[in-house]
Formats: sequence, structure tokens, C-alpha cells
Amino acid sequence: MTSTPQGVIQGVEDKRSYVRGMFTAIAPRYDLLNHVLSLNIDRRWRRMAIGRLQWESAPGGTYLDLCAGTLDLAAELVRRDGFCGEVVGADFVVPMLKLGKRKHWALRPVGADALELPFSDGRFSGCTVGFGVRNLTDLRTGLREAHRVLRPGARLVVLEFGTPRPGPLRMLYLMYFKHVLPRVGRIVSKHASAYSYLPDSVQDFPDVEAFCTLLREVGFVGVGTMPLTFGIAHLFWGERQ
Ligand SMILES: C[S@@+](CC[C@H](N)C(=O)[O-])C[C@H]1O[C@@H](n2cnc3c(N)ncnc32)[C@H](O)[C@@H]1O
Repeated sequence: MTSTPQGVIQGVEDKRSYVRGMFTAIAPRYDLLNHVLSLNIDRRWRRMAIGRLQWESAPGGTYLDLCAGTLDLAAELVRRDGFCGEVVGADFVVPMLKLGKRKHWALRPVGADALELPFSDGRFSGCTVGFGVRNLTDLRTGLREAHRVLRPGARLVVLEFGTPRPGPLRMLYLMYFKHVLPRVGRIVSKHASAYSYLPDSVQDFPDVEAFCTLLREVGFVGVGTMPLTFGIAHLFWGERQ
């Protein structure tokens, strides 16, 4: 259960409509806040996520960026030297996609729900999800859908926030994440709760081991994980058999 200054998000529909409304409202300031609040480290994390995708084995393939938002992760892939395929960016908040579309002509935004993707089985050569899975109302269904639309041997790469291991850095980070970030986020985004929802949703997300287990349960093989910046974020990957 996730709390916001307006109250507590109770059920699946509640969370779904909260997430949609919130990203629609903050869309114009989303990129700015991402880079400022992460001190630009998010750019490095995105580069590392694309580095794990193994797109070099199919540079002309069609790739899916799920929960694509303003298409930053998708743009990171299409801009790679040697990449000559296309990247479909799927998100259920169209204003986010519209803002991202101008980042590169080869991006293909599609309004779609990650829990019910309008794509055929085995269509994609790879799939990325950046800071998206934490927002899904049904994580298992979302991962199953990602698995379904990948061709055999193709890779899923998930970039998601985590929490550093116990120690002084963790305390400092949590102070920033739970107290500074929500205040700055509220002022810049002009949204009362979006940046309080962020730390709450990270706290509610499964830990690294539990998420890897879930990836295996929905059918991914070769599951791996890597902490980024002392565990503030994590990369996860797995392949469709
Ligand atoms: C934190 S943003 C991440 C955007 C982008 N991937 C990035 O790396 O900056 C999360 C995105 O997930 C989208 N999202 C959440 N639940 C979704 C769902 N069920 N289907 C499609 N998109 C969803 C939101 O609309 C939002 O754009």
C-alpha cells in the first residue's frame, strides 16, 4: 500500500488512475526533474542499461521500450553508432510520449498499457523498462507481457531504483530521498504528491532477490543483476528461452 499526501492508494484501480493522472500532470517537467534530482546520474544509468541489451547482435531489429515516458531510454538506443533498427516506445500516458517524440525521428511512440500489450508474440528483438515496473499495478502480468512479445533469445533489461545497503551512505541517501527530493519535486513539478509517491513506491518494490525470482517464474533465463551507484538503482536482465 502506497501513501500520498492526499491519502493512501488502496487498490489496483486506485493506483492505476493515480499513476496515469500523476504522469500526465508532471509530463512537462519530468525530464528536468529527473536530471536535477539525480544530479544527472540517470543519464549514466540509461547508458549502462542499453549497454546490457545486447542490441549489437540484431542492430536492425525492432526494440520495445516499455513504460517509455518521455523516451529517454529509447533515444539512448536509437542514437547508438551502428544501430539501424527502430524503437517502439509504449506508455499509457500519451502526453509523456508526445514530449519524447521530438528527441529522435526513429522513435515510434505507441499509447499502450504494459499489462495488455497490443503486439504479437515474439515481435521484438529486445525490451527495456526504465523506472517503470515499480508503477505497474500487477508486476507479474507486466513481466509476462514483456516475455510474450520478445522473440526467443531476446533480452529484457530493467532499470529500477533500489536502496543502498545499511551504512552511513544509506542514511544520507534516505534523508535526501525521503525529505529533500519530495520538497524540491513538489515545488518544481507543482504536483502535491508525485515526488512523495516516488520514495514510497521504491520502498514497496520487491527486493533484488525477489525480483530476480519473479523474472525466472515468468520464464526468463540467464537472469542477472547489477547495483548502480552503491545500490541507488539496479539493473536486471533476462532472456526469453
Ligand atoms: C517514472 S516514468 C519512467 C519513464 C521512462 N522510462 C524513463 O526512463 O524516464 C514511469 C512511466 O511508466 C508509465 N506507466 C506506468 N504504468 C504503466 C502501464 N500500466 N502501462 C504503460 N505505461 C505505464 C507512466 O505513464 C510513466 O510514463
